[in-house]
Amino acid sequence: MAGQKAQGAGRKAQGKEQGAGREARGNEEGTRVKGRGDAGPSQSPAPCASSLAPSPLAPCTLRPAPCRIGVFVCDCGSNIAATVDVPAVVEDARKQAGVVHAEEGKWICSVDFLSRIQNAVKEQKLDRVVVACCTPRTHEPTFKATVKEAGLNPFLLEFVSIREQSSWVHKFDRPEATRVAKDLVKMGIAKARLLEPAECVRIPVGKEALVIGGGVSGMSAAVGLAEQGIKVVLVEKTDRLGGLLNGLDMLAPHTHSAEKLVSDLEQKVKGNPQIRLFLSTQVEDIKGYVGNYKVRISGQAEPFTISTIIAATGMEELRPSGFNYGAVPTVMTLLEFERKLKTGWNPGDVAFIGCVESRNEKRGCCNVGCMAGLQAASAVRTGFPQNKVGYFYPEISLEGTGVAAFEDAVRRHGLKLFRFADDAYPTVEKGAAGLIVTARDILSGPEVRFPANTVVLITGYKGTEEAPKLKGLLKVSSDNDGFFQEAHIKLRPLDFAAEGVYLCGCARSPKDVRTSIEEGMGAAMRALIPMNKGHVESEGIVSVIDLGNCSKCGLCAKVCPYNAIELVDKAPDVIQAICKGCGTCAAECPKDCIQIIHFTDEQIGAQVEEALKEDPGQKIVAFCCHWCALGAVDMAGVNRSEYPPNVRIIRVMCSGRVDAAWVRRALELKAAAVLIMGCEFPTCHYIDGNYKAEKRVERMIKSLGKKGLPADRIRTVWLSAADGPKFVATMKALAEELEL
Ligand code: FES
Repeated sequence: MAGQKAQGAGRKAQGKEQGAGREARGNEEGTRVKGRGDAGPSQSPAPCASSLAPSPLAPCTLRPAPCRIGVFVCDCGSNIAATVDVPAVVEDARKQAGVVHAEEGKWICSVDFLSRIQNAVKEQKLDRVVVACCTPRTHEPTFKATVKEAGLNPFLLEFVSIREQSSWVHKFDRPEATRVAKDLVKMGIAKARLLEPAECVRIPVGKEALVIGGGVSGMSAAVGLAEQGIKVVLVEKTDRLGGLLNGLDMLAPHTHSAEKLVSDLEQKVKGNPQIRLFLSTQVEDIKGYVGNYKVRISGQAEPFTISTIIAATGMEELRPSGFNYGAVPTVMTLLEFERKLKTGWNPGDVAFIGCVESRNEKRGCCNVGCMAGLQAASAVRTGFPQNKVGYFYPEISLEGTGVAAFEDAVRRHGLKLFRFADDAYPTVEKGAAGLIVTARDILSGPEVRFPANTVVLITGYKGTEEAPKLKGLLKVSSDNDGFFQEAHIKLRPLDFAAEGVYLCGCARSPKDVRTSIEEGMGAAMRALIPMNKGHVESEGIVSVIDLGNCSKCGLCAKVCPYNAIELVDKAPDVIQAICKGCGTCAAECPKDCIQIIHFTDEQIGAQVEEALKEDPGQKIVAFCCHWCALGAVDMAGVNRSEYPPNVRIIRVMCSGRVDAAWVRRALELKAAAVLIMGCEFPTCHYIDGNYKAEKRVERMIKSLGKKGLPADRIRTVWLSAADGPKFVATMKALAEELEL
């Protein structure tokens, strides 16, 4: 039985059709991931004699290195070479055990140099490659593909970031920048010695998709897919298509009819035989993985199977507090106002108040409020020229054609604009004949008292109320406002981190109509890629279980956020098609019998040992998640923000992977501090790895403290990908506190 295999081959993707099943089974050898003691052919060294695991204060004895490592260090033009002494880094790398080739390149990601790497792999029979250059978040796939073309298993490549983590952030200190770069390269080499070949899992993908949400974005996605021959199930929770647009009249900035736009799209949806539309329907349950999702919807007894899913769930207005909202019926939100205006209602004199529940400490600009508010204000003046309109705002944020629309609104429609300070929002009181809005206009100086019949609050937005349930079903992340979180804001804005699930429109963040439609079509095109290919290949970074030492406690299955571990007669069995490689199971396993391909205990342990070989008391070992936390590190680099050169970053996929044994070992080796860096809450790319990491750190502090280790030196920091400044501030504060 698969679950009883000692070497954790895990389960393969089960194709739902015969052909698909044959493909998955036919690939069995290729998809099997090597576990401990199950090393690949000639490229894998023998197992490590000891790891970081059970013996406290015992040094890690790394296995001998019968490998042939090639190290390629990039100048990145002058980006690295102007600060780091690259020849010295190369020379230092050359002296390391197992390194048979080391060289400097001006641009190692250039086509010429990539073929140079390939030649070196072939001619020098390299069986490990270390590249030291920019950031793995953008360039790792390029180098993986390069070594693969040269015949080397891509899992035998290690990526070291010396630009973002050294030259760009220590640019005024060449000796220290060089020292950091040397350490990072040696840490990469130490890990590379222990790399083992692995394979990606190929999963068949059919041509059926589910689109959740029948607003403009969801309809555009459904039509986009259907027009390419995909069978689409479109599920809308209300009894009509159109979403938020059903409450709008004219759309900014070109005053297109919202009704006409919805009706045009609706016709395309209803006229396409490839689309099955379910109105007044909710998604009840989703099980499975890309290529093989079983979906149950309300009103249907039987689940159906689809291959990909697009979430187009839209957004809702935030409920404002204050301004007499809820107490006075003529104080309303913008969408409430739009719905009434659409019926021909005369609102009388109107005061708009911008940026309510947005642009504050909880959330930033909502992106759409200014344009929508100005459109509504202009509509009042167009429909009721005798009505006065006052527009109170702390900031106007417009782009492209919105700027012209703004000028038009002010000039042609005669809006009265009043700018108030961020910390002095207008007050709304009941007057003798209606409402009085009072604010200090910071542009002209005096206090303004604007009598109005209606007050419109332009609020921020949040994800819809179904988002939390869908987040659990789809096993994806969302932010504090319930908006779903994309895999990468620039590189994969319409994908979730999970394979086969996509997002678009206001499910991601507030969008205008045009962007929502474009994103709907964009998400359809993304979803089409695996459906047209007929398969996806998983990353190959998956969990491997050695049942030899397993106590069958079942904790791994319990903590897996993707339900990727099944218990077969109490023995854990990894379903590789579902496993995302976050590593939470490995970190939680009390018997240390779970490893994550490319991020094993031995490999990370070797990096810890190498980082702390010299001057450990001056070094902060930072375990950093590949997503937001590394994004913040990269952002600090991009900003050229200086911070003390004490940190040595060790990449893991998720903070949930950080094992107490690594932290313990770093403290035993007298690291100045250990920092665990993950995504800010609640946005872990593996759903809740950061929550689990936070709890584990609390436990670590207690247990390592009891063992006499300086547990007060264990720290955490939770970052968004834009939090470069926060990372820099953390490093400065830590260095100052520790007197480094
Ligand atoms: Fe960043 Fe989980 S992916 S903490």
